[in-house]
Amino acid sequence: MKFEKEILCIGAGYVGGPTMAMIASKCPQYRVTVVDIIPEKIDQWNSADLPIYEPGLDKIVKQARGKNLFFSKDIGAGIKAADIVFVSVNTPTKTFGAGAGMAADLQYVEKTARQILEYSESSKIVVEKSTIPVRTAQAIKRILVSDKSDVHFEVLSNPEFLAEGTAMRDLENPDRVLIGSQETDSGLKARNELVEIYANWLPKDKIITSNIWSSELSKLVANAFLAQRISSINAVSSLCEETDADVGEVARAVGLDSRIGSKFLQASIGFGGSCFQKDLLNLVYLYRHYGLNEEADYWEGVLKINENQMDRFVKNMLRNMFNTLAGKRVCVFGLAFKANTGDTRNTPSLTVVEKLLAEQAEVAITDPKALDNAARDLKDAKGNYELISDPYEAAGGCHAIAIMTEWELYRDLDYQKIFDSMQKPAFIFDGRNIVDHDKLFEIGFNVFPIGKPKKVHF
Ligand code: NAD
Ligand code: UGA
Repeated sequence: MKFEKEILCIGAGYVGGPTMAMIASKCPQYRVTVVDIIPEKIDQWNSADLPIYEPGLDKIVKQARGKNLFFSKDIGAGIKAADIVFVSVNTPTKTFGAGAGMAADLQYVEKTARQILEYSESSKIVVEKSTIPVRTAQAIKRILVSDKSDVHFEVLSNPEFLAEGTAMRDLENPDRVLIGSQETDSGLKARNELVEIYANWLPKDKIITSNIWSSELSKLVANAFLAQRISSINAVSSLCEETDADVGEVARAVGLDSRIGSKFLQASIGFGGSCFQKDLLNLVYLYRHYGLNEEADYWEGVLKINENQMDRFVKNMLRNMFNTLAGKRVCVFGLAFKANTGDTRNTPSLTVVEKLLAEQAEVAITDPKALDNAARDLKDAKGNYELISDPYEAAGGCHAIAIMTEWELYRDLDYQKIFDSMQKPAFIFDGRNIVDHDKLFEIGFNVFPIGKPKKVHF
């Protein structure tokens, strides 16, 4: 069969895999190929056991794979054949040199641009899917025009707004798709081509367009606003704990104001994941680069509150467990940074585990999807920890439970059975406010939610 378009995605990660699977499933008339520099990852995408867990992903990959969705190791051939190349490589925080710990590490993006230039024999649209600092398109374009004057490249920005755990739903029915281009004739033509791809399943009013710099910046700002809301409600949670106010009740009252809105006001142990922190750091770095230090301090505050929330959580455990955790066994419910994913990148749970190990606690970690990643993350950790898949077994003999991930499963456990198997007094610290605190208190637990009055038997 001859396909209408050849689409390539460079980077077969949490974004590249699901995004391309969605395009392939919605557009059988296009051939979609996903490549990666890690050959084992491609093997996994071609196997029954996909490299990432995402509800609904297996089904659509299995439906489209081998028909119009291909995972390949041959990056050069992929580039040669493509009309449109999505760049979906990682853009982590730089760990070395100038801007270490703040700036985005753009080496993977730049290498990708060079690969595209090297293998291209025909004109292409290059789409930035990765989250990058504003004005990166200019750097990509400069690389792409540095050779081969007979081949034309148009660079578009098309940031991805999916959240892990709901990626397939977000891709199928996003609030909006954003496409930025240069406002030249060829830029606008390329922009329309990308609009037409999304219009295969989305109404046109959901596909918004802008200039390329606004598009790049909008992605960083969207993540900064989302993270800011979580830090705002977490900053409220500490005051609630001091004053016997209830953060859930405050969030409800505040969120019902339609100007504020009710989403993303769930007080927690803090936000994690691969993006909020790195994108905020990146934004702060950009502000400082332009000498906008007051604004940089403002956004940096969002990160400080987040770190403080994890610190506060462990200090609260320590204070309420008679100021020592040494030799005590603590069970950690959940290592994933949120429910419905196995992803542990930048997970607050790991920070808490490290702090508990530093207090010489023995830590039993359980999680339904993240234990493989946990084993990798903790392989150099000093201290006494165990990874146990069964939550009942993990909690057995423990002095305390810390709920770190809002997995549905943790709401409905038999807490009487768990209480009976634990050391007394038994403590539960609910970093997600997901369990029935009154019921647990009645069973005999000493209960410490986030931003709500504690319930103790002594
Ligand atoms: P990831 O690490 O899961 O995937 C990136 C992949 O790119 C890796 O498999 C890596 O091997 C590959 N890669 C790197 N350089 C390459 C090269 N030169 N050639 C071929 N492959 C190469 O990262 P991710 O979570 O998918 O994120 C990708 C980008 O999307 C980041 O900029 C991130 O900020 C952004 N983003 C992520 C999410 C999310 O939920 N994870 C959501 C929106 C946006
Ligand atoms: C986030 C954004 O929601 C996506 O729009 C964006 O595309 C993505 O980052 C990205 O750029 O990578 P993600 O990190 O996958 O998505 O997940 P979120 O649902 O945003 O949760 C992030 C963290 O905040 C999690 O640790 C979650 O538990 C926490 N959170 C979220 C709260 O503590 N409270 C809330 O009310 C909401």
